[in-house]
Amino acid sequence: MSTTAFKSYIEENQDRFLEELFDLLRIPSVSTDSKFQQDVRRTADFVKERLLEAKVDKAEIVETEGYPIVYAEKMVDPSKPTVLVYGHYDVQPADPYELWKSPPFEPEVRDGKIYARGASDDKGQMYMHVKALETMIVNDALPCNVKFMIEGEEEVGSSHLAGFVKDNREKLQADVVLISDTGIIDNENPSITIGLRGLSYMEVEVTGPRIDLHSGMFGGTVANPVNVLCRMIASLHDEQGRVTIPGFYDKVAELSDEERSEINRAPQDDEKYKQELGVKALAGEDGYTTMERIGIRPTLDVNGIWGGYTGEGAKTVLPSKAYAKISMRLVPNQHPDEIDELFTKHFESIAPDTVQVKVTPHHGGEPAVVPTDSPAIEAAKKAFQDAWGKEPFLTREGGSIPIVSLFQKELGIDSLLMGFGLDEDAIHSPNESYGVFNFLKGIETISLFYQHFAKV
Ligand code: BES
Ligand code: MN
Ligand code: MN
Repeated sequence: MSTTAFKSYIEENQDRFLEELFDLLRIPSVSTDSKFQQDVRRTADFVKERLLEAKVDKAEIVETEGYPIVYAEKMVDPSKPTVLVYGHYDVQPADPYELWKSPPFEPEVRDGKIYARGASDDKGQMYMHVKALETMIVNDALPCNVKFMIEGEEEVGSSHLAGFVKDNREKLQADVVLISDTGIIDNENPSITIGLRGLSYMEVEVTGPRIDLHSGMFGGTVANPVNVLCRMIASLHDEQGRVTIPGFYDKVAELSDEERSEINRAPQDDEKYKQELGVKALAGEDGYTTMERIGIRPTLDVNGIWGGYTGEGAKTVLPSKAYAKISMRLVPNQHPDEIDELFTKHFESIAPDTVQVKVTPHHGGEPAVVPTDSPAIEAAKKAFQDAWGKEPFLTREGGSIPIVSLFQKELGIDSLLMGFGLDEDAIHSPNESYGVFNFLKGIETISLFYQHFAKV
């Protein structure tokens, strides 16, 4: 199968491909918010129908205690390799709605970009695989067996996927898990992701006086839990930008000089980065570059903090309680359960006698790295060479896809992280977008990957 045949099929059908994606983007499949329950379920049906239209042998909705998993397969020849495609049809909430230039569930193309919640994460990227399958089948060029496993709970921790994977080891047997839920450096510098960070996510509650108090009558006599929480949080980093939790770095894998210089080979322009993010200066752990800070170093960040009076005008109050949501990104060989415990112990130990603290862990996930010398990476490199005319960089990204390490442990299969998103896609933010170019080029690259993978 030649590169040009795929290219022209995709070009001839691009309007329809985009229309179908728009229909998918119109369904508000927000998994965190039960108000959208029916919509999330409807999205699973939509994905199943599109897979059937692409001519899979079978497609099914697998019920779980949460949202269903869409499973489908197309078996061409048992002697050929099998690709297991993973993706997610759920999306993040679209709030705050007022910051969107066009409504989040009414997709619109502006300046070559598709604007909608889920455009890049992950509906647009997941749908490339459905269209790549169609492209190969129609052109009589599907050289591998394909299985699809598309879930609806990725954005809420994939809590029912683990059970499905453990119960279906046979059914899910494959040679590689193929995932497009990550990004490339930019459209001039394509890349394949070989590492993802893990996640530990904590909620803390700090309680001072029994009830909210008049801040004049009582201020200065009892500790203010918001003041205390801020001081506690500030103490979680030192002057060098390192996390101060005892034991936090004990298991962190230190990379060799070769590995570090490989990571820094990627063209990273800090000036441009600052400009794009609207900051005067960058911050992070001393002694590491931006690429290293993202890819191989663990972090701690406050995701949200609240307490006391935040409404209009000035209300004088000494609040009873203060709260924060704090996440930590983890790197190989840190374990989320161990980090949860270290955090809890430390946070309790630094609380002054003036307050009480409660620490509650939320869902987390393990970091993952994949070997760089696999047949899948080889085939992907060739596909990028064909489609982009360039050798892709190998990068480590800062985001998390916890099921990647689950696939390694439960199925013994490494993932090929071949996503086509860009930093500018603003995933999880207002005005999320995905380049039309990236969507179409992704379909082409994926179709070419199968050709090379069948030969290795
Ligand atoms: N697709 C992202 C993960 C991602 C984004 C990886 C960018 C690499 C680059 C995924 O949908 C996501 O948002 N994951 C969450 C974790 C999950 C447990 C909710 C994350 O990284 O915060
Ligand atoms: Mn995603
Ligand atoms: Mn996401």
